[in-house]
Amino acid sequence: MLEPIQRLRPKLLSTDDPVFLLRWLRHPTRVGAVTPSGRALSQAMVRPVDWAKPGHVIELGAGMGAFTRVLMEQAPNIERLLVVERDPVFFARLQRRVPSAPLAMGDAADLPELLARHGISEVGSIVSGLPILSMPRDIQRRIITGALNAGPDPVFIQFTYGFRSPVPLSKLAEWGVKAERCGFVAMNVPPAWIWCYRKA
Ligand SMILES: C[S@@+](CC[C@H](N)C(=O)[O-])C[C@H]1O[C@@H](n2cnc3c(N)ncnc32)[C@H](O)[C@@H]1O
Repeated sequence: MLEPIQRLRPKLLSTDDPVFLLRWLRHPTRVGAVTPSGRALSQAMVRPVDWAKPGHVIELGAGMGAFTRVLMEQAPNIERLLVVERDPVFFARLQRRVPSAPLAMGDAADLPELLARHGISEVGSIVSGLPILSMPRDIQRRIITGALNAGPDPVFIQFTYGFRSPVPLSKLAEWGVKAERCGFVAMNVPPAWIWCYRKA
């Protein structure tokens, strides 16, 4: 007979590593989820990436590497990736779990500086696992416009657990950004919607 906590474990943790839940307990708004995204959401998040388009693919807020793994499977050349994570505990996990991924420890709000430091002059797609909904408006603007200005026509791919865009469409329009729902994943806990943001 399992103890109650053991019965809960598989529901709360999709891995045997409790770090995600522990980081969420410490910084709930910075982490934004209690478990890493599942495989179905990870695949759906990477689907809008057009590898034929020139430029780098940037992942923001990689956590334990759920999206990173799919990106690495699909990238024609992993040198075209840059995986950004701000939290030092998650960053150390990424170094262990996806050692061959090009990783950068830093804040997504400082993306132009991070790109310059890594010699990246053009971005084609941005895959964001960031808890953008819980961020202050000015940080949302810095992250989204900073990423969209890093290439001629990049797509910023963002998931959210609500039906609506995590940033109001009126705000996005003010910032010169157009938005469309570009995916829905029922097979995730909780189900998730995917938004694609582009320059208007
Ligand atoms: C909801 S978790 C998503 C992790 C992973 N992409 C997934 O879906 O399983 C959000 C991640 O974004 C990171 N993060 C939050 N704010 C950030 C920022 N400003 N810059 C970079 N990473 C950030 C957190 O540390 C955390 O790893």
